[in-house]
Amino acid sequence: MEKRRIIVDCDPGVDDAIALAYAAANQDKFQILGITAVSGNQSIEKVTRNALNVAEYFGLDVPVARGMEGPIVKEPLSAGEIHGENGLGQCEFPEAAGAVLEEHAVLFLYRTLKELPKGKKVTMIATGPLTNIAMLLKLFPKAKEKILEIIFMGGAVMGGNVTPSAEFNIYADPEAASIVFQSGIPLVMCGLDATLKCTLKRNQVMKLCQSGNPAAKICGDMAGFVLENTSAKYRGEVSIHDVVPWMYLLHPEIFTAKRTILSVECADGPARGTTICDLRWWDHDEEGLTSAVLLDADQEKFQEYLITALYELGETMKGKYKE
Ligand code: RIB
Ligand code: CA
Repeated sequence: MEKRRIIVDCDPGVDDAIALAYAAANQDKFQILGITAVSGNQSIEKVTRNALNVAEYFGLDVPVARGMEGPIVKEPLSAGEIHGENGLGQCEFPEAAGAVLEEHAVLFLYRTLKELPKGKKVTMIATGPLTNIAMLLKLFPKAKEKILEIIFMGGAVMGGNVTPSAEFNIYADPEAASIVFQSGIPLVMCGLDATLKCTLKRNQVMKLCQSGNPAAKICGDMAGFVLENTSAKYRGEVSIHDVVPWMYLLHPEIFTAKRTILSVECADGPARGTTICDLRWWDHDEEGLTSAVLLDADQEKFQEYLITALYELGETMKGKYKE
């Protein structure tokens, strides 16, 4: 059976980096065509360098392109208080031997979609603000015909993490989210309702940190930074939000999903960046419900699949890097 073609758009970011490790552990199940970086957790310079170094370290031999330096309308945010000054929990990855593409990420996305074999489409996995994808859709409207679906980490049916009702990836660029939500492309929103359950507990993080496994240890160290330096320490667990879109692709059975129509508040004020998930299925024709939102996740299964994958990935890396 033909493997699903995937492009990753991300803002590494501790959980983006762990998601890239999980992707690398499962890369034989997909055709990963490239990684595009977008301003979000840290500056575009830092997230692009992080994407390149993390991808190479975990063995993802794919092109990496630098994307939008900030949101479509407002000034760039950053989440240094969560992800550290370097964006990776102050963990250092070896400098990649490869280089970032000269081509802008939005142009890379367009070219890659244009060069697809006739009738083939790409699944976008997005774990940062949706700025790159929104710009692609505005500059090249026909690009959406080549996108099978967008599985993204962002938003929530209920709650927020930047404000009481807005999640970071959407809050960082709600105008971009609105463009994507209105595109008609099938969407799967992996929001906080599910990702707050997709965590690593303190004891699990400690075991990863103490392992001699090159993938498990650095992911434990990154998760440990967030666990010890944010409100996660009071929960005794840290959400690994950005793994969820990948885990949904590989293990949809551990999630509860509902069909919905997505919209987002873009007006300035206390509700800016709030996602609105219309769950009134009875009010809409089936074909109008082109999107879904994850409402729940099996925490133990998430932890089992993620931890197993990190150790398996590390086994393939032993000997490549000094431990
Ligand atoms: O709200 C969590 C999301 O915001 C994650 O993607 C994290 O990396 C940050 O980008
Ligand atoms: Ca992210």
